Amino acid sequence: MNEFGTKYRVGIFGSSHGPCVGAKVDGCPPGSKVSEDVIQVELDRRSPGKGVLTTPRAERDRLELISGVVDGRATGATIVGLVKNKDVDSSAYDSFRRVPRPGHADYPAMVKYKGLHDHRGGGQFSGRMTAGLVIAGAIARQVLDKKDVRLLAQTIQIGSVRIEKDVPFSIAEKIARANPVGCADRDAAERMKDEIVRAHEDKDSVGGIVRCTVLGVPAGVGEPFFGSVESAMSAMMFSIPGVKGVEFGSGFRAGSMRGSEHNDPYAVRNGKIVTKTNNAGGILGGLSTGMPIDFKVAFKPTSSIARPQMSVDVVKKSPVELEVKGRHDPCIVPRAVPVVENSAASVILDLMLQGGFA
Ligand SMILES: Cc1cc2nc3c(=O)[nH]c(=O)nc-3n(C[C@H](O)[C@H](O)[C@H](O)COP(=O)(O)O)c2cc1C
Repeated sequence: MNEFGTKYRVGIFGSSHGPCVGAKVDGCPPGSKVSEDVIQVELDRRSPGKGVLTTPRAERDRLELISGVVDGRATGATIVGLVKNKDVDSSAYDSFRRVPRPGHADYPAMVKYKGLHDHRGGGQFSGRMTAGLVIAGAIARQVLDKKDVRLLAQTIQIGSVRIEKDVPFSIAEKIARANPVGCADRDAAERMKDEIVRAHEDKDSVGGIVRCTVLGVPAGVGEPFFGSVESAMSAMMFSIPGVKGVEFGSGFRAGSMRGSEHNDPYAVRNGKIVTKTNNAGGILGGLSTGMPIDFKVAFKPTSSIARPQMSVDVVKKSPVELEVKGRHDPCIVPRAVPVVENSAASVILDLMLQGGFA
């Protein structure tokens, strides 16, 4: 099931070691400005090439827009955008057909597809598929830009390093975009880098948390029940490989709070109805409140690690010690930041189109 959305419909295609990966988008309002440069900037943020922090696989990810955009404007036809896979080395992957990697999709995929799936580089389960999510989202965010909707994802935790402080949106955007881990605190960014380097040196990996904020969404966006902002956003976020948790506003902390603490009191600011706090994460009843939409996404540590792990030979049904070869990210988070941000744009645009807001 590779399609998402009702009005702004995103499909992704390709595989890690096939010819390309990309996105197919239906429902982009005709006439919308679609700059290839903007999409390329977002793809560059996701690409590897950040030294030891990311996979040594050298992919430039040059955008090719195949259809749906003429002279920088959406024509109303299906938009197809892709990036070619250039630096492919499938030699390390054959053994995973018989000895699945702990923590990766090898075993359940083997069962579901009867061993016939494309296992090279993780196939359709590869993080590389998220290039398509970035392409579709980078188109959506250009439509949202005209509606003054702005999105920012930032890393707030890697391993044991966490930042709690709330950096104002514009400052956070500037700082987070300027360092390779996407953190809005320069000092914490350095410590996060060290955490990744240490995990890599230990032939291990590390997880983390990305926070995403969406400004400018008017009150009333969302299609309850099953198209509530939380339902749609978390469905998209949980589709990103490696995601193990999503929480909105105060999230799981709500379970230890009292109503008097969790309720966000209303106020009027410059003639606008606002809330003084935002424990709701900008969503009540599945509808946007007009406050920033605020959620966090937890990524597990990358499963493909270089240290020996126990697995089984599924044919012989005997234990095997496995050393995962191939090229891998020691931490998914730095490259996932633009994936979260741009995927969120596709969700918000779809909901705004459904509700007649765009
Ligand atoms: C941007 C990005 C890069 C990723 N890089 C790797 C990687 O190098 N090695 C790996 O084992 N998993 C990587 N993953 C995660 C796997 O794709 C994912 O763990 C796997 O498909 C199993 O799915 P699950 O973790 O959602 O259960 C990456 C994910 C993303 C979003």
